[in-house]
Amino acid sequence: MFDTMTSTKILGAGCGALLLFLLGGWGAELIYHGGGGHGDGEEHAQGYLIEVADAGGADEEAEPEIDFVEVLASADAAKGEKVFSKCKACHKLEDGANGTGPHLYSIVNRPIGVVDGFGYSDVLATNGGEWDAEALNGFLADPKGWAPGTKMSFAGLKKVDDRANLVAYLQGIGG
Ligand code: HEC
Repeated sequence: MFDTMTSTKILGAGCGALLLFLLGGWGAELIYHGGGGHGDGEEHAQGYLIEVADAGGADEEAEPEIDFVEVLASADAAKGEKVFSKCKACHKLEDGANGTGPHLYSIVNRPIGVVDGFGYSDVLATNGGEWDAEALNGFLADPKGWAPGTKMSFAGLKKVDDRANLVAYLQGIGG
């Protein structure tokens, strides 16, 4: 009798400690990773917000993100035509006229990697989706960052105004 009680108590205490330990670890994971996801910026920001909830909404500006569509709304297509001179060596705007790069006729909202007869890299051939303003913004800012393995040897347009003006210009090509 005594032996059974003692071992039950020991077992119970052991289980309780283990449970607390597991719960504690899980709780810490939630707080520091905002749900224990993939550790990207947004989740860290969320964890930060939980810890400093008193500070209010100002913290949402911790990671300023430029709204490209907004910049695009007031972009200057004439300036974009000048920016396009950086692309001309490899891209033509006439439908079907491929060069080093695929033709860019009607590129805005065109599906990604679909020009007939152009040999795309795997990353663009299999990406899916279409070249909406956001995708063009990301790719043109940093081609190799946005599409690792791309064949497009272009460093990228660092200025958001250049990208917006260029996309505004390209919107007028084709339809
Ligand atoms: C040195 C040559 C070169 C330059 C300069 C260049 N590109 Fe490209 N571009 C390419 C190549 C090659 C590809 C195909 C990439 C692949 O398959 O990974 C490509 C692909 C693209 C695509 C994807 C097209 C599709 O059908 O999916 C877009 C959009 C694009 N380029 C826009 C531009 C713009 C805009 C510029 C100027 C800011 C530019 N490129 C500058 C060579 C170039």
